[in-house]
Amino acid sequence: MSSLKKIKIIKPDDWHLHLRDKKILKKILRYTQTFYRRAIIMPNLNKPITNCKKAIAYKRRIINASQLNTKFEPLMICYLTKETSLQELKYGFFKKIFIGAKLYPDQSTTNSKTGINKISEIFHILELMQKINMPLLIHGEDNNFDIDIYDREAKFIENTLVLLRKTFPELKIILEHITTKEAVYYIEENNSPYLAGTITPHHLMLNRNNMFIGGIQPNLYCLPILKRNIHQNALRQAISNGSTRFFLGSDSAPHLYENKINLIGCAGIFNAPSSLLCYVTVFEEMKALKYFESFCSKNGPNFYNIPINKESITLIKKPYKILEKVSVGKEFIIPFLSGEILNWSIL
Ligand code: NCD
Ligand code: ZN
Repeated sequence: MSSLKKIKIIKPDDWHLHLRDKKILKKILRYTQTFYRRAIIMPNLNKPITNCKKAIAYKRRIINASQLNTKFEPLMICYLTKETSLQELKYGFFKKIFIGAKLYPDQSTTNSKTGINKISEIFHILELMQKINMPLLIHGEDNNFDIDIYDREAKFIENTLVLLRKTFPELKIILEHITTKEAVYYIEENNSPYLAGTITPHHLMLNRNNMFIGGIQPNLYCLPILKRNIHQNALRQAISNGSTRFFLGSDSAPHLYENKINLIGCAGIFNAPSSLLCYVTVFEEMKALKYFESFCSKNGPNFYNIPINKESITLIKKPYKILEKVSVGKEFIIPFLSGEILNWSIL
């Protein structure tokens, strides 16, 4: 036992997580809570979290859904629309109700039908955010239907992000769940204290081939969609050279089986039961374990300017079987890598 390899790190935070609500929330929260001390909770519920009142109520529902004794803090985000009130946003940020606000291009993903059509629609909001130092989280895909789905992230950078950063050079931006070499290079090249990116475990472990091996794999369908292996390799490289501009955001996004395996299936991968173990697997493969802790537990809080956690957790190199499904009443959710074995476990 004592000869098994172990890694003790500061307890991580998940900087991009979907917890949903009600019975799903109740069933899945424990997986995140086991591995993470805090998480940024995505506001894209059926009725998005667009103001302080909704955020406070949702945060309370999350805390009340906890089934474990482990401390866990949800960090709430305001879903931006062109109607977002400046006063509300400012109040929410100063009162620490919101840690940031999220830009969803209109129709870009699950529950984004009240997202933004043209970035200039919200310049007055971004101006305020820059002034008060409030982070902007971005789903960085150009939603123009003429653009190939595999090019949407690169086109967003080219068509929107460059202009946005030129207009608001001191606005803190997190380009979320990056999937392309273009995003990696853009963040690395700028190397700005105002720009960072989060990376998911599935985009590190897989590429678009995986969606079609042995038949179509709806459980691997997510947005932004998995890309070519050159992009996957760029992401793996990005986390391996110790840049503090990249950090952990699992984008764990559960959908009930019947909604994923359907004629029109939902996008989203539920990886909370194994996300941290997936990350450590990739860092080990990349011989980059020395940067694992900063990616998981330091770069995020430093970028958001909040304290680093005091708690720690230990991972141990021991086979771990990922659970096959999570029941939700009569229904269920299939986790990422359901039933597969990873080489790392939590102590
Ligand atoms: C997310 C979801 O289901 O809410 N889906 C996904 O594929 N990642 C939305 C998102 O983060 O884009
Ligand atoms: Zn997401």
